[in-house]
Amino acid sequence: MKDTYILAIESSCDETSVSINKNGREEIATVVLTQMDIHAQFGGVVPEVASRHHIENITMVIEECLTKANMTMEEIDAVAVTYGPGLIGSLLIGLQAAKTLAYIYHKPLIPVHHIAGHIYANALVESMKFPLIALVVSGGHTELIYMKEDYSFEKIGGTLDDAVGEAYDKVARVIELPYPGGPRVDQLAHEGEDTYHLPIPLDDESYDFSFSGLKSAVINLAHNEKQRGNELNKANLATSFQNRVVEVLTKKTMRALEEYNVDHLIVAGGVAANKGLREKLTELCEEKNIHLTFPPMKYCTDNAAMIGAAGYYAYKLGRVADLTLNSKANDKLQ
Ligand code: KG4
Ligand code: ZN
Repeated sequence: MKDTYILAIESSCDETSVSINKNGREEIATVVLTQMDIHAQFGGVVPEVASRHHIENITMVIEECLTKANMTMEEIDAVAVTYGPGLIGSLLIGLQAAKTLAYIYHKPLIPVHHIAGHIYANALVESMKFPLIALVVSGGHTELIYMKEDYSFEKIGGTLDDAVGEAYDKVARVIELPYPGGPRVDQLAHEGEDTYHLPIPLDDESYDFSFSGLKSAVINLAHNEKQRGNELNKANLATSFQNRVVEVLTKKTMRALEEYNVDHLIVAGGVAANKGLREKLTELCEEKNIHLTFPPMKYCTDNAAMIGAAGYYAYKLGRVADLTLNSKANDKLQ
């Protein structure tokens, strides 16, 4: 069978990334240009600054990826691109580049939902066995998704307020850790003890999540200790916060696997890099004989390798767009 090569572009937030994927599974070359240092001085991503840097870099990143792969555009079968959700100004740059390549080189244009990308990052590790459950944990999403086949996304639960990564970033700010906060809270959580009494968020029978109450409890605790002149034990607070988060995420995920009679769990999104979550899920899945897949560490956060994998399966299903395709800041995963 002829091999299929997808050139994929991701620019939904502060990473300009291009990747070439072969047959869904094999990553030929990937370039990720992160703007993290630029945004760190502002304490978070500044959308206008992000889109300006995407404009400056996108052409170079495409060329570098093709050079790294030792390929030309003629050898590419289709161009995949993240059309949303994300920062609209950032998305537009990647989309315009993808449309231009598709138009000039007469290639099909494949629209990829950013979260489908995070999910299919797991296909770079091993083939996804359906039915499966995907736990999506990123800066903008916290969802449990049932997949009975490729590109069939049944949402069985989601966050009612903050996404888990967002809660991590806010907690990091309150305890004065530099941007990006999530990985730093995770690191600190491994140095402390679970001494602070914090509420377990939305500990009920649903598959929904809520992190704003837990986040507010951390903020209030930090302010109260400051007002009383007490020194905050940041490591212990990070441990206590992380334990509550991991507890609720794993509890609801394990229950979903049982109720839906599924024995393959995949984890997706930036928070899939979280050590506490990885350790606890590994332990529970071993206990229950559940097959567990995490994306490669470097492809937990935003990158085009995952868009290439998701783009391949979309292409095989004929999910092709025309040149009127537009970016969407928000869009349902479907
Ligand atoms: O998936 P992603 O790169 O962007 C979105 O699509 O939202 O996820 C970024 C989020 C940030 O909130 C970041 O703090 C969080 O993932 N994150 C982590 C860890 N690494 C990244 N959160 C907790 N523990 C980590 N190790
Ligand atoms: Zn993402």
